[in-house]
Amino acid sequence: MQYSEKVMDHFMHPRNVGEITDASATGTVGNPKCGDIMKVYLQIENDMIVDAKFKTFGCGSAIATSSMATEMIKGKSLDEALSLTNKAVAEALDGLPPIKMHCSLLAEQAVKAALKEYYEERGGIPEDKKKYFDVLDEDEHSV
Ligand code: FES
Repeated sequence: MQYSEKVMDHFMHPRNVGEITDASATGTVGNPKCGDIMKVYLQIENDMIVDAKFKTFGCGSAIATSSMATEMIKGKSLDEALSLTNKAVAEALDGLPPIKMHCSLLAEQAVKAALKEYYEERGGIPEDKKKYFDVLDEDEHSV
């Protein structure tokens, strides 16, 4: 299996590993088939993601995609973070082998799970944003 240099770089030197104490929201997702688990921490101020960290107990692609996903949402608005897709994360890494696309889905789901918690603790998910959370119902292993 061939991995891009960017995947290897983010796997060997992952960005944003760790926890945020007093995070505004966290999202934990797991894939029951491979057993991998990902937790994303978000610090949100004035509808901006000022910091993002993650802890991933999983495969190399799961680590690389959570590293890239947190890089892509840091400093962005909630709306921009909501529109993050696993495809965009995989493309930013110069691609993933097809059999590993589900790992990038886990990264998108972890970010969405954190954003969901954020909205739910503040009166619920706005109607026009609900569609962004459909991904949380997807089977991670469909590629
Ligand atoms: Fe499960 Fe990569 S093999 S997330």
